[in-house]
Amino acid sequence: MTNPSLLILPGDGIGPEVMAEVRKIIDWFGAKRGIVFDVSEDLVGGAAYDLHGTPLHDDTMAKAQAADAVLLGAVGGPKYDVLDFSVKPERGLLRLRKEMDLFSNLRPAQCFDALADFSSLKKDVVAGLDIMIVRELTSGVYFGEPRGIFKEGNERVGINTQRYTESEIARVARSAFELAMRRDKKLCSMEKANVMESGILWREVVTEVGKDYPEVELSHMYADAGAMQLTRWPKQFDVIVTDNLFGDLLSDLAAMLTGSLGMLPSASLGAPMANGRPKALYEPVHGSAPDIAGQGKANPIACILSFAMALRYSFDQGEEAARLEAAIEKVLADGARTADLMGPDGGTPVSTSGMGDAILAALDASI
Ligand code: IPM
Ligand code: MG
Repeated sequence: MTNPSLLILPGDGIGPEVMAEVRKIIDWFGAKRGIVFDVSEDLVGGAAYDLHGTPLHDDTMAKAQAADAVLLGAVGGPKYDVLDFSVKPERGLLRLRKEMDLFSNLRPAQCFDALADFSSLKKDVVAGLDIMIVRELTSGVYFGEPRGIFKEGNERVGINTQRYTESEIARVARSAFELAMRRDKKLCSMEKANVMESGILWREVVTEVGKDYPEVELSHMYADAGAMQLTRWPKQFDVIVTDNLFGDLLSDLAAMLTGSLGMLPSASLGAPMANGRPKALYEPVHGSAPDIAGQGKANPIACILSFAMALRYSFDQGEEAARLEAAIEKVLADGARTADLMGPDGGTPVSTSGMGDAILAALDASI
C-alpha cells in the first residue's frame, strides 16, 4: 500500500515558519507512530505570484486535486496590495476552495483552560468553551454572479450577489447535522431570513434536512442576533451552521472569544473521493501576519492543530489527533508562551520553533 499523500502549501508571511513546525510533528508521527505520509510542498499566494505571476499555478491546482489532503499556511502581505484583484494572493486560496469544491468549512473555537484569562470576556463566559462553526465555503456572495464594478449613468456601482441553491444549502446542512450527531446533538442555523430571500430558503432547507436527524435539537437565529449571543453566552451553542459571509464574520468573532487567533485551526471538506476520504484542505484561521514574519514570534499551534484535524477527518486517526491536542494542552498548562500568548499569567516565553520543540517533547512523553 502506498502512503497517503499530503500536499503542503506554506504560502506567505508567517506561513513558512509555522509550517516548519508542522513538518517536525508530521515526521514525529512517521517515526514514532508509523503514520507515514508522502509529503510534497508547493507555492501558493504571493510566493506563487512572485515565481509564476499567478497566486496558484495550474500544476499546483492539479496536485491539490490529487492529494489525500492539503495543508496550507497563510497567504497575503502588504507587498501584494497593489496587485490587480485577479492575481491577489487571496485569489489562490479561493480558487483552491472553489475548484476542490470544499463546501463545508469547520472552524472550531475551543478555549484552552490555560488561556481562559486571555479572552476579553470574563473567564466564566469562555472557560471550557468548545463550539464548532460550519461555514458554507464555495457559494453565496463570495462567488455569486453578477459581480463587478459597473458604470451606471454618471457614477459607478459595485455589485455582488448572494445566491444559494437548495442543493448547496442541503449539503452543508447535512455535514453540520452529521457533526452535531458526533458532538452534543445541538445545531443552530444562522441567516437573515427577516431581510433576505436566500435566508428564507436557507431556513427552509436546513429544517427539511433536519427531519433526517430527529435526535439533533435544531434552532434558528438571525445572524446579527447570533453575533450578539456569541459574545453574551457562547456556551449556549454547540454546532453553528451558516453561509459563507456570515461564517467569515462569526468565525473571527468566535476565534477571539478564545483569547488568541493564533490557536485556531480549520478544515475545509468536500465530497468523498474514490478512496472514501473527503477532498480536504486544512489551514489555520489566522492570516499571514506580515508584521511579525521572519522573527520567530509566530504561534505555530493553529497550524499544528490543523494537522490534528487532518489526522481526524482525512485519515481516521482520531486517537492520534487527540494525542496531539493533549500534548498542546500540556505545553500550554506548563506555561510555554509565544509572543501572542504573553498575557496576564506571565509564563515562559518561547519562539516559534521553541513551541514546536515543546510539543514534540510532550508527544514523546505521551508514548
Ligand atoms: C478566511 C479569510 C478569507 C475569507 C480571505 C483571506 C479570502 O478571511 O478564511 O476567513 O474571507 O474567506
Ligand atoms: Mg475570515
